Amino acid sequence: MRFLPLLGHSGGSRDAMTCLYRCGNACDHPVPNETDNEYLGDVVSTSMSRRGVMRAGAAGALVLGISGTAAATAVPAAAAPAEVPPGAPYAGKAPVKGRAGKIGFKPIPPNTLDSLVVPNGYDSSVVIRWGDAVVPGAPEFEIDKQTAKKQAMQFGYNNDFVGVLPFEDGDRALLVVNHEYTNENLMFPGFTTLDALSVEQIKTAMAAHGLSVVEIERAGKTGEWQVSRKKRLYFNKRITANETVFRLTGPVVGTAAVKTAADPKGQWVIGTLNNCAGGITPWGTVLSGEENFNQYFVGGDGVAEADKPKLTRYGISTTARYPSDSRKWDRAQERFDLAKHPNEANRFGWIVEVDPFDPESAPRKHTAMGRFKHEGANVIVARSGHVVAYMGDDERFDYLYKFVSDKKLIKGNSPAARKHNLTLLESGTLYVAQLTGDSPAAEIDGTGKLPSDGEFDGTGKWIKLVSGNRSFVPGMTAADVLTWTRQAGDAVKATKMDRPEDVQPSLRTGKIYAAMTNNTNRAVGTNPGVDEANPRANNKHGHIFEITEDKGDHTGESFTWTLPIVCGDPAAADTYFGGYDKTAVSPISCPDNVAFDSAGNLWISTDGNALGTNDGLFATPIEGSERGHLRQFLTVPRGAETCGPFITEDDKSVFVAVQHPGEISGATVEKPASTWPDGDYAKPGVVVSWRLDGGPIGS
Ligand code: FEO
Ligand code: CA
Ligand code: CA
Repeated sequence: MRFLPLLGHSGGSRDAMTCLYRCGNACDHPVPNETDNEYLGDVVSTSMSRRGVMRAGAAGALVLGISGTAAATAVPAAAAPAEVPPGAPYAGKAPVKGRAGKIGFKPIPPNTLDSLVVPNGYDSSVVIRWGDAVVPGAPEFEIDKQTAKKQAMQFGYNNDFVGVLPFEDGDRALLVVNHEYTNENLMFPGFTTLDALSVEQIKTAMAAHGLSVVEIERAGKTGEWQVSRKKRLYFNKRITANETVFRLTGPVVGTAAVKTAADPKGQWVIGTLNNCAGGITPWGTVLSGEENFNQYFVGGDGVAEADKPKLTRYGISTTARYPSDSRKWDRAQERFDLAKHPNEANRFGWIVEVDPFDPESAPRKHTAMGRFKHEGANVIVARSGHVVAYMGDDERFDYLYKFVSDKKLIKGNSPAARKHNLTLLESGTLYVAQLTGDSPAAEIDGTGKLPSDGEFDGTGKWIKLVSGNRSFVPGMTAADVLTWTRQAGDAVKATKMDRPEDVQPSLRTGKIYAAMTNNTNRAVGTNPGVDEANPRANNKHGHIFEITEDKGDHTGESFTWTLPIVCGDPAAADTYFGGYDKTAVSPISCPDNVAFDSAGNLWISTDGNALGTNDGLFATPIEGSERGHLRQFLTVPRGAETCGPFITEDDKSVFVAVQHPGEISGATVEKPASTWPDGDYAKPGVVVSWRLDGGPIGS
């Protein structure tokens, strides 16, 4: 079945409003990576031997996936009051159930409707939306009477990552959600300019950032969920940009780069910024990536000359006091003025770990995992018992990373095991990816035409940057490498990628999937040219990148890779869907987040569909003869991007976050471009979809 893009919509991939609010107009600024790293060379390896390795790798990883699942966790009983049953562990998703490679739903057509669309035989409902109560006692939301104090008790804005961590009984769970950024023009009635906001409105926007932890419960016997109607909601919690205290962990703690007047020992940070995607650990915590933190700071022109390149590489302007369309958060908290507090920006750009089952615990920022524009982090347990986190730096021409823990996971539910596992991400080894293609460079012509061996593929090395307190980058200390990780990647000539966003291992096969969202600067002007891993010039639609660790060893330093999906209109010659019949697949553009169901099918959500229709959620088998048979499962309302997604352990429910509905230039509260979900003005919200007959999603 083929779909044609609908008429009557703009062809652009991102609305100008998205660029301003979400990324601080990143695309208007120079690409921060100006190094002359080589990108993919044309070293040819024999595909025979490589494929042999790949087979062994997959088999080995299967074993690993099963042992990874055995990892479970318990909530320390002491953490909860006696009347509250202890929260149950998140046991990890069972990696292997039946029906591998089977997807049965009828795809929905691309559309521009202002509603959430799911296939026939499915239903959906809004679980929670911006302004809904989170913390017990939260006041009812009133759009014309917002305050920071109220917002800090209510569900925040622009939900992105979604994690569902079930309790033991299976009928209750903790929903943990990131709130990446705010659209002030869609939040505050009468909005005119960012400069005209009151300080209270700025603080309200700060409180609308961060995360929410919300207890949810099943509604009926299908896959529907709703917020818990219990009176006592012990775990419900808000984490914000302006108030929550985070503990720094790892080698950067106490170093000069993170010391400030308010924190002279460099140990504690107030707030988290621009939390994008994330992941759930086998010990029942949530990881959250601090992404475009640069846009919140002003005064970069006032820092010492020697420090300016360090800011520039992270996209912070050092030529203007106020970068274009600055949020000017220094009006509410002086620390956002780098001229006065030059180290404050170094305290953002980390992976955050939140323990939702211990609401009293301080969330942590793990410096051992490096500092960049973290999209998210997803963990797998290696055969050795070490935990390995895969991560992307979401910027054009930035890098792919992995972190391997020093310590090994302790299996089981005991409080002692959990206490130990909570330290796993505090020390380890950080690597960056360097790739080589296996086809001659001349065959990678930028058009997307497959090389003569029929695949964009090759080999890769994980280059060690730092291990514990030992740096492997000449001229940089371990703390330098972890604080200015982008520069460390530059120094070792990591491969420049087309916006590496979500990176997630399949627990079924151990293979790792990364979304390369797009890069319209690829091979344009003086920017880096194409290579086999980023093979299209002016890459508008993005691609999926698949990694197979050699011998299935996630702690290893070598791998093979291939591009299973090169996105776009399947009717276009430059797209590829695993070799599947392109007349039978749905168009897809700008892959952003990935997820797996228990059968190992790959689910992909999109951000910025450059084919002109609404963003959505897609599913495809990724193994066997159905590999690449991609079908569209869902679309989100006008102006929104599709975030999450998260498929529950029992496969009965898929959660997605509808982020920035109505984010179209010129829209306001009074003149909304979307009225989803309630028919009045646009509100970001988390949705669950389920099969009417209660069966597994997608099959
Ligand atoms: Fe927040 Fe990289 O998307
Ligand atoms: Ca090739
Ligand atoms: Ca994203």
